[in-house]
Amino acid sequence: MVFHTKNGLSDGFGRGVLITGCDSGFGHHLAKKLDRMGFTVFAGCLCPEGPGAQRLVEEGSDCMKVFQLDVTKDEDISSAKDFVQANLPEKGLYAVVNNAGISDWGETEWSTAKDFQKMADINLFGAIRVTIPFLPLVRASKGRMVYVSSIFSFFNCLNMGAYTVSKRGLEAFADCLRVEMASFGVKVSIIQPGNFGIATNILPKKTPQDIWDEFDDVRKLTFNQKYIEMACEYFHSMCTSGFKDCSMVINAMVHALTAPKPQTRYLVVSWTDRVFFYICPFLPTCITDSVFYVSSMYYKRKAMLYS
Ligand SMILES: NC(=O)c1ccc[n+]([C@@H]2O[C@H](COP(=O)([O-])OP(=O)(O)OC[C@H]3O[C@@H](n4cnc5c(N)ncnc54)[C@H](OP(=O)(O)O)[C@@H]3O)[C@@H](O)[C@H]2O)c1
Repeated sequence: MVFHTKNGLSDGFGRGVLITGCDSGFGHHLAKKLDRMGFTVFAGCLCPEGPGAQRLVEEGSDCMKVFQLDVTKDEDISSAKDFVQANLPEKGLYAVVNNAGISDWGETEWSTAKDFQKMADINLFGAIRVTIPFLPLVRASKGRMVYVSSIFSFFNCLNMGAYTVSKRGLEAFADCLRVEMASFGVKVSIIQPGNFGIATNILPKKTPQDIWDEFDDVRKLTFNQKYIEMACEYFHSMCTSGFKDCSMVINAMVHALTAPKPQTRYLVVSWTDRVFFYICPFLPTCITDSVFYVSSMYYKRKAMLYS
């Protein structure tokens, strides 16, 4: 990625940035990076006593402020606002990075409405809950709002229904906000990482047996147990073939926060995937769907159904 940071912020002294989900992964690395750049970092952690949050406390400067923030809890968000306001650096709150998220996989028929709700409650409504109360502070500093989405916001993939719903909703929210905030001088960016599963803590830990045990008789007769095992294996082999470190995503986030003209979207994928993912949102649905129909996995799945 070519960065145009000329005339942008070269350091963050006097400026505050709130990041959600700093216990691990992208949020954790971004908190450390922005701390080194001189920002006052408000690092929201799900478990402030946990090892990730404690590492931030130990390794960070005096400007690293670690605090409890579960984005599904209104009371945590209200306390977070009081905490940020009480510790504002001289140039105020410059940005909010809505990073906290979870992922899961599984076919729609293996899921319940509650699974979809849980995903949306963190990945989508979590970001909405955090955005609204903090907007006046970011507006006052003509700052930045950043949303961590995913390639699954536009790439319709087998087994990723609940995650896709939450990330597509998140992008719709960020897109509408960008139009409204433009007249206030606030810039809104979306980060779309590809496969960074082994570089972070995002991968759900469930076995084929865990999935099978949740099935009722109808599902047991529809989805072959061998297929569940194969799907698990395939999912894990895909995830372990991804990037081993987060630096490309962190660079994109830093660009979104510091460049004079941040991009509205940062697609962070491998060079080999780049062409496909760039054109993917513009292709007719029958072509993007056919990517799956021709895959050997899809073919094997079809052959195993009802058997
Ligand atoms: N890794 C990838 O391949 C990838 C690809 C595309 C998009 N993303 C997105 O990137 C963002 C960051 O994820 P990551 O990959 O860095 O995974 P991660 O290491 O699991 O980080 C997610 C963070 O969110 C926290 N979190 C979970 N539920 C929360 C809640 N209710 N309130 C506040 N924080 C909560 C987690 O805390 P705990 O550690 O305590 O659970 C963790 O600190 C997510 O939005 C994810 O969807 C990741």
